[in-house]
Amino acid sequence: MNTAPGRHVLCRLDEIEDGAGRGFTLPDGREIFIVRQDAAVFGYLNVCPHQGTPLDWAPDTFISEDSGLILCATHGAQFRIEDGLCVSGPCAGDRLSPVPVAIEGDSVVIAAP
Ligand code: FES
Repeated sequence: MNTAPGRHVLCRLDEIEDGAGRGFTLPDGREIFIVRQDAAVFGYLNVCPHQGTPLDWAPDTFISEDSGLILCATHGAQFRIEDGLCVSGPCAGDRLSPVPVAIEGDSVVIAAP
């Protein structure tokens, strides 16, 4: 698999279901998650801006089935997929911390730390 220097391959794009998320632990120990929307991916630290807890209540469960938004399992904050803005819940107006992910060929990659 050819990947540009300074990139770390997370997975193949088809290993993330369209409209769903997947969590990863980076080589430096940071916990992140990726959400796929069609041919686009969005990556954030798996840390809620409200109290710093992981967002998922079960592995790779990041999206609300009701709203289609990113959901924090602890107190129910909801975040837009495209920019991580919290649109409801106790940290409304805060944002998830983005991580620089991209699609290269059929792979999802992140800039190597
Ligand atoms: S820790 Fe996420 S909403 Fe409270």
